[in-house]
Amino acid sequence: MTLKTIIKLIENELLPNINLKSIKPNDPIIVSNVPNQWKVLGSGNYAAVLYNSNFPYYAVKIYAENRPGIDKEIEVYNKLGYHPSYSQCFYHDKNYLILRRLDGITLYDAIVKGIQIPESVISDIDKALDYAITRNLYPHDVHFKNVMMKDGKGFVVDVSDFYKYEKCLLWAHSKKAYNKIYKNILYKLHPPIPNFILNIIRKIYQLYKR
Ligand SMILES: Nc1ncnc2c1ncn2[C@@H]1O[C@H](COP(=O)(O)OP(=O)(O)O)[C@@H](O)[C@H]1O
Ligand SMILES: [Mg+2]
Repeated sequence: MTLKTIIKLIENELLPNINLKSIKPNDPIIVSNVPNQWKVLGSGNYAAVLYNSNFPYYAVKIYAENRPGIDKEIEVYNKLGYHPSYSQCFYHDKNYLILRRLDGITLYDAIVKGIQIPESVISDIDKALDYAITRNLYPHDVHFKNVMMKDGKGFVVDVSDFYKYEKCLLWAHSKKAYNKIYKNILYKLHPPIPNFILNIIRKIYQLYKR
């Protein structure tokens, strides 16, 4: 019942109004023209994710025009099945998915806001990635904007690249940053770190990867 209602709202209210702009392929999608009752949960380089305040259980992931990958993401969710550290896909159409909304904040936002990231979050994510491997998937593109935490628990929000059979060191590098820099220097005081500094680090990392 509610799923049908939210599909109608997406088709009749959200999609005809929302504007998604992909300015550079390596930068997040810019979202504008968000109708009343809808709130942006976040955006990545492919898609924007929103929820409707009357249906907070669902998150709608809308792919920007010309950004590929939605079919693969659906396939990944089918393979994953249910696991408490992942979302689920309830419905999909040409350019959007209806997912279970994960409560909490990304580890990236936790660093920006100065909220402490406990080690249990990191170990939950490790376990979730091991689980994905048992489902014949390959953890990929797991970094601080693609993982979330709530009440000391860790979640993986973005599985869109888990079908790619190629080595990805992002989570290994993110964990190294957590163990070497975060735990030793930031853990106790966890001061807020401005977005622009994290953006500089992100850009340096992108250069270093090339
Ligand atoms: N199921 C979800 N529940 C809550 N927030 C989500 C969910 N999925 C994504 N988000 C938020 O939206 C952002 C972008 O989603 P993501 O799947 O990473 O898009 P992209 O594939 O473009 O990188 C995430 O960083 C996160 O903040
Ligand atoms: Mg992402």
